[in-house]
Amino acid sequence: MPALVLLGAQWGDEGKGKATDLLGGSVDYVVRYQGGNNAGHTVVVGDQKYALHLLPSGILSPGCTPVIGNGVVVDPSVLLSELSGLNERGVDTSKLLLSGNAHIITPYNVTVDKVTERFLGKRKIGTTGRGIGPTYADKINRVGIRVQDLYDESILMQKVEAALDVKNQILTKLYNRRAIAVDQVVEELLDYADKLAPYVADTVLVINEALEEDKVVLFEGGQGTLLDIDHGTYPFVTSSNPTAGGACTGAGVGPTKISRVIGILKAYTTRVGAGPFPTELFDEDGEALRRIGGERGVTTGRDRRCGWFDAVIARYATRVNGLTDFFLTKLDVLTGWEQIPVCVAYEIDGKRVEELPYSQTDFHHAKPVYEMLPGWSEDISKAKSFSDLPKNAQDYVKALEEMSGAPISAIGVGPGRDETIQINSFL
Ligand code: GDP
Ligand code: IMO
Ligand code: MG
Repeated sequence: MPALVLLGAQWGDEGKGKATDLLGGSVDYVVRYQGGNNAGHTVVVGDQKYALHLLPSGILSPGCTPVIGNGVVVDPSVLLSELSGLNERGVDTSKLLLSGNAHIITPYNVTVDKVTERFLGKRKIGTTGRGIGPTYADKINRVGIRVQDLYDESILMQKVEAALDVKNQILTKLYNRRAIAVDQVVEELLDYADKLAPYVADTVLVINEALEEDKVVLFEGGQGTLLDIDHGTYPFVTSSNPTAGGACTGAGVGPTKISRVIGILKAYTTRVGAGPFPTELFDEDGEALRRIGGERGVTTGRDRRCGWFDAVIARYATRVNGLTDFFLTKLDVLTGWEQIPVCVAYEIDGKRVEELPYSQTDFHHAKPVYEMLPGWSEDISKAKSFSDLPKNAQDYVKALEEMSGAPISAIGVGPGRDETIQINSFL
């Protein structure tokens, strides 16, 4: 009954797509459990590069069944265009399963996301503008539209009416926008019904039966721990739970079924959108990390904010997710620095603090306390085992492991599937 959760340990973009794809060949199911097409997961297979937003990264492994769980929010137009894009490139997507309980990102949710951000002005979150927050808000407000509603026209009509009732008041009276017509939305949604029908399934049953049959199931998180609505840097977060517990609610499996939780951890730190980021760099080192690491958003094309590794955050990720392993990515990007600063603690209002403060004000005041680790200049992209790494790179990894609270079981030394050093098996 091996059930693994694979999630981001920082603010997203840690390399989850690559890590999931790497495991895809040895797992039976890859399940997305939260988020939507705000995610941008890059997978490099040979000379082919794929950017996935909604589909689980396991879709690229022929033996693997990709599943979109109940906790995901689904924009049908994005899903269908992602499927046809992969089909055109010869990828078989016919095994995909889509939960009938997943909520649909409607056109009005996307509109509300955009106008809300505009209205917030300087206080904006810097969302991806994909309608994620408003769709989860509708879910919690019990006016959401689910995939299964596409198959009952009269229920769909009633639900869209209920959802637009208040929204149209807000759009017209507060934001000075035109009202959205119920009929038009219903017509557009009904158009997706037949196209999505082959994939719709009772995914909770499928996943639990698979676990009973001793199949290997991998739960792939979107975003990252610090973007979690409960455990992240609220309000500068996404509107779902990427942390490990989210896999249980977002896929319908009990916590007793989860055997391993793997945190994907970049060898430095990046963040997209607004919000606090203690180790952020505004100098040429930040520029160099961005350039060498190719740190540009896969979804919105925005430059990612870059900074040094933050061990306080890594320890926090270990705690809130119960991490059993880390997959350290992008170690190769750090090649060439004579010394590499690592944040080991914060200084907050003159006091040294070892753990992430729960108070938003304190976190905004946190200044990194750095320890300098010696760098390396040798090309490490061809390293196949830990002993192939130069001594200083080995020591950097060991130091991070010691500070972060869980074993580093794999190391990424390049974007490709085979550019990975496996130290402990994940299965
Ligand atoms: P995700 O959202 O967590 O899946 O990560 P993204 O795909 O948004 O960003 C990670 C980027 O780093 C992608 O361009 C990957 O191809 C790339 N990548 C992943 N692992 C490594 C690695 O070990 N080394 C290098 N150089 N690039 C990597
Ligand atoms: P992956 O899966 C990095 C950020 C946005 C914004 C905040 C809220 O590729 O790691 P949202 O549209 O979710 O309401 O935006 O969350 N964000 C991400 N940052 N990687 C992601 O996904 C992200 N998904 C959302 O930039 O700050
Ligand atoms: Mg990404």
